[in-house]
Amino acid sequence: MTFTISDHTYGTDSVEAKHTMYADLRSQLQGLVAGETDLIANTANFSSLVFNTMPGLNWSGFYFLKEDELVLGPFQGKPACIRIKKGRGVCGSTVVKGEPIVVADVHAFPGHIACDVNSRSELVVPVRAHGEIIGVFDLDSPLPNRFDQTDADGIVSLVQILEATFAA
Ligand code: SME
Repeated sequence: MTFTISDHTYGTDSVEAKHTMYADLRSQLQGLVAGETDLIANTANFSSLVFNTMPGLNWSGFYFLKEDELVLGPFQGKPACIRIKKGRGVCGSTVVKGEPIVVADVHAFPGHIACDVNSRSELVVPVRAHGEIIGVFDLDSPLPNRFDQTDADGIVSLVQILEATFAA
């Protein structure tokens, strides 16, 4: 397998730039997970690809449900909280809601769990296997209002590529 993480610098301020970035990310992710079903390997590469491609991130990673608690999985960034109860914080709320949550200002989100004081905005997307939520993918940014619906849709499209490897 040959694979190169893009050295292209993507903008964060236009919908067109984001669409281009997510199309490139999808194609790179397809290449990375092709023929591989190992959960740790695929989620480790997923978090690295996103962290090293998207501008303005300070954390990118997974939490997986274990007995109603989210437990830290593969990630990029500073060490983070290890366990988050279902329903707690942005991650636990995403599990309960079953849909992506975009937080423009983490200080305004009741119950937000601050793993890194520099984080100002956040996007969390549920991850499913065979229709059941098994965890979340979490993105943090030191920039306020870093994520919008285009990012939520883009990350969901990437998570769907990952989820397809669970069915294989
Ligand atoms: N902020 C998250 C906790 C995880 S860290 O950001 C990596 C939350 O409120 O659930």
